[in-house]
Amino acid sequence: MVRLHLARSGRFIDVGPEVSLLEGLRAAGVDHPSSCEQGFCGTCECRVLKGVPDHRDTLLSDEERARGDVMLPCVSRAKGNELTLDL
Ligand code: FES
Repeated sequence: MVRLHLARSGRFIDVGPEVSLLEGLRAAGVDHPSSCEQGFCGTCECRVLKGVPDHRDTLLSDEERARGDVMLPCVSRAKGNELTLDL
């Protein structure tokens, strides 16, 4: 279970391990853009304000992965159980 904190709206959303973060956002009524939903197009990219993403995409560079300030929630997850996104 990952607890997402959406910084702009001040909402907290719990996302279970069986769904992607993007699916969890949608299930909570958050409209977030997407296209490929397989981690290669970048449409769903969002900024990470706190927490460590578990990158599972094929788009971000090694440098972006190491910085950990952006992620692709259609496939990626969190290391640990909390993540604050700029949403
Ligand atoms: Fe394409 Fe997430 S929708 S990378």
